[in-house]
Amino acid sequence: MYTRENADAFVAERKYLLKDEYRLNFHLMSEFGWMNDPNGFIYYNGEYHMFYQHYPYQPVWGPMHWGHAVSRDLMTWRHLPVALAPDQTYDRDGCFSGSAFEREGKLYLMYTGHIVTGPDRDNDYRQNQNIAVSEDGIHFEKLASNPIISAEDIPAGASQKDFRDPKVFERDGTYYVVLGSNDGQGHGLILLYRSDDLVDWTIVGEIARGDEELGDNWECPDLFELGGQDVLVMSPQRMPAQGDNYHNLHSTTYMIGRLDIEQSSFNYDRYEPVDYGFDYYAPQTTVDEKGRRIIMAWMETWESEIPTQLGHYWAGAMTLPREVVLQGESLLFKPVEETKAYRQNGYETGGVPLSGIKDMEVSGDCYELEVVFKADQAEEFGLKLRVHGEEETVLSYLSAEETFRFNRDKSGIGLGGERRAKVALKDGLLALNIFVDKSSVEVFIQGGEKVMTGRIYPGTHSLGIQAYSEGACSMLSFKKWDMK
Ligand code: FRU
Repeated sequence: MYTRENADAFVAERKYLLKDEYRLNFHLMSEFGWMNDPNGFIYYNGEYHMFYQHYPYQPVWGPMHWGHAVSRDLMTWRHLPVALAPDQTYDRDGCFSGSAFEREGKLYLMYTGHIVTGPDRDNDYRQNQNIAVSEDGIHFEKLASNPIISAEDIPAGASQKDFRDPKVFERDGTYYVVLGSNDGQGHGLILLYRSDDLVDWTIVGEIARGDEELGDNWECPDLFELGGQDVLVMSPQRMPAQGDNYHNLHSTTYMIGRLDIEQSSFNYDRYEPVDYGFDYYAPQTTVDEKGRRIIMAWMETWESEIPTQLGHYWAGAMTLPREVVLQGESLLFKPVEETKAYRQNGYETGGVPLSGIKDMEVSGDCYELEVVFKADQAEEFGLKLRVHGEEETVLSYLSAEETFRFNRDKSGIGLGGERRAKVALKDGLLALNIFVDKSSVEVFIQGGEKVMTGRIYPGTHSLGIQAYSEGACSMLSFKKWDMK
């Protein structure tokens, strides 16, 4: 029997087994065991709360619990007791992803109950939506009236089994929830429900449906207003690659458009990747008391081998919190300003002509860089990080192709590969803001126009930092800070 108490006791007894080697210093991870999607992200009673898909018992996916951590600055997290365990008939095979909402001072979690209904766990299942409420933000009671949206409330034309990941929002005094689904014929779709009290819900309708290009099922939708526009972020499964984009098995995209509740439609004419790297899935946003829209995602990808699953007793981490900013018709994703308070041992150099390889005088496995290159005549230029012997992680710009690349073929153990993103120089300049944290790299390109995220697993001696170019270019400025 899975209970919150058993989960907490198990973690407390086993925590000493954790292997530190690839544990991150300034990213949220579970204390022990497995983590996937961010859930219930909210600023509540003066703290950021982040819940997450969690299987405490092994570093593999299993019957989902909700882990829980809080932070005052989105950087240093304190773990709280497990918030939800799969302990009811309607969620007996997992408390799947969902969101949080504050109402009359209480914290509401809305999540998907997962029930396996036959011998083939991957195909025989049903899903429903439930609520748990807390007065103190720590202890949650599931409602006696759960499920508050059951499989019978799924409209015809939508999958009768993929019905998950409720994200609640409020508009003009009414609550709405978006849910991810598909049409049973290989196209993702989003359903919208409405409620006056977060407990009684009625269907509004299907607001968006994809085509073959947009995967066969949509997970973790998030719909929010930004700068007078509506933004839909979601994670399409098995989306085919398009040029340099969408090369991971499952992807994440955003669409800027307009939600028309009367017409039950979300109109958009374009979609873009949220992140161009290897490891980024199921993001969730919240808005804080400063009015910032902040997004965090699972810094992994499904069906890939995670090296810490073998002998390290943990797997999975969250990305850095990023601020979402509307610029024209696109979104920028920027590291939140709170990261700056974690800078120490600053180092700075500039006006460095580059041709060939240059060892920078600094090194590390946990740091931030701000680097500006002037491309000049160089065909290719960039940085090599976590360098030692044969190991290196390459971040470089290919001038002729106007493309930035992140190559981890020689990064260490774990998966290799390369991801690419089209990037235009600005007045001949390329500006990079990079965060390296033990087993992660996040690259913010041209002020957050494109972001690339990837996990790497280099040896402990791979600490070198190099700049390089083929053809002449210059590094106008290079700043490095260790991160506390
Ligand atoms: C996304 C997802 C969700 C689901 C959860 C299960 O990564 O597949 O759709 O609710 O993970 O852990």
